[in-house]
Amino acid sequence: MKILVIHGPNLNLLGKREPDIYGIVTLDTINQRLSALAHELGVEVSFFQSNHEGELVQKIQDAMGIYQAIIINPGAYTHTSVALRDAISSTGIPTVETHLSNIYRREEFRRHSYVSGVAIGQITGFGADSYLLALRAAVGVARDDRKK
Ligand code: DQA
Repeated sequence: MKILVIHGPNLNLLGKREPDIYGIVTLDTINQRLSALAHELGVEVSFFQSNHEGELVQKIQDAMGIYQAIIINPGAYTHTSVALRDAISSTGIPTVETHLSNIYRREEFRRHSYVSGVAIGQITGFGADSYLLALRAAVGVARDDRKK
């Protein structure tokens, strides 16, 4: 089973970026923790980060037929991108939306997600652990899908 982890804009700056909100853990460390958990769960994970909306859309399209689930932190595109939402619904790949911060406890404009309506579910507010919870959720969902 292959799971794709997609990190959206500005997440390459994790560790340096607003540590009070996003913590001090870098993206590399998050990916390493995900790889270790994936090994434990017996699945393969791949990572992709981009600051560009079109590249994120392309990566989601290219995931068809290769990945059984996607974990995505769309960053600020969560709140703006119909294109990302459409890419997820077009591919039909089960997707878990993930955020480090609790988007419902912050500014009003962060409370709306274009992605949540097409995601299987959302994990928000657990810092770097959000990704590990998302991986467990994605594997559970993908395994159920394979039984159908
Ligand atoms: C974020 C929350 C978004 O509102 C913000 O634009 C981000 C990060 C999070 O992980 O908490 O870039 O997705």
